[in-house]
Amino acid sequence: MPGVFNLSVDEVTKETSQAFDAGVKSVILFGLPETKDELASGAYADDGVVQQAIRSIRKATPDMLIMADTCLCEYTSHGHCGVVREGEVLNDESLELLARTALSQAEAGADVVAPSAMMDGQVGAIRETLDDARLENIAIMAYAVKYASAFYGPFREAADSAPAFGDRRAYQMDPPNAREAMREADLDYAEGADILMVKPATVYLDIIKTVRDRFDVPVAAYHVSGEYALIKAAAQKGWIDEERVMLETLTSIKRAGADIILTYYAREAIKALAKA
Ligand code: PBG
Ligand code: ZN
Repeated sequence: MPGVFNLSVDEVTKETSQAFDAGVKSVILFGLPETKDELASGAYADDGVVQQAIRSIRKATPDMLIMADTCLCEYTSHGHCGVVREGEVLNDESLELLARTALSQAEAGADVVAPSAMMDGQVGAIRETLDDARLENIAIMAYAVKYASAFYGPFREAADSAPAFGDRRAYQMDPPNAREAMREADLDYAEGADILMVKPATVYLDIIKTVRDRFDVPVAAYHVSGEYALIKAAAQKGWIDEERVMLETLTSIKRAGADIILTYYAREAIKALAKA
């Protein structure tokens, strides 16, 4: 992805401090561990790469709102978002590891944990674990409505997290299905999600709008890697006015009802908005 890089702890600390000064007041972290294993131990290690980055950013830029993506797929050797046995992803056994991951991120200093594995019950399991550790002030931004999308392609290549076998359709959602989206959001809301996220954003604007109308918590929309890559590629070919297309795209997500937008364009958008 042009303009997007895997950063070391030192680099991410510098990058986030500059982003903060430029007006980006929150970040979400994804980890790429040195080694991956069956049980995703890098996801919940005390000295895991995300845990180190959280501590380092907190020290350098204390007022940055730090979010951590809570999933196992970047850390598992098989690339699935949960525990795998005999070729099956095991929902309930994955909950414990996801809760451990969220706890270690919160203990490192994350303000928000963002479970993205799409395991049933993950929000409830994380809420209970955080509350037991007296971390009830840590917010949960639930990837409540996450479609099994081809738009995650560039991310998976960057994080080397494509599933080694099968796909994610057993736990991510079926693109033509809108009603299931509400069932998923209902469950996460009931389990204590503080923010509900819809992902991807631009090809699911109808879902953002419905979630906005139906729930009284902030709604987030994730403008994912493939959505970013489409604009970048056309711009590099000189086929579109990148800045205008970017702003129009982000505006459509906002208009659909998103209170929070996660986008690889954050720094460029802030710059463009300052001019506008
Ligand atoms: C982890 C996760 C993914 C993304 C965010 N969290 C990858 C996936 O589900 O395969 C995708 C982000 C993007 O494409 O920008 N589950
Ligand atoms: Zn995952």
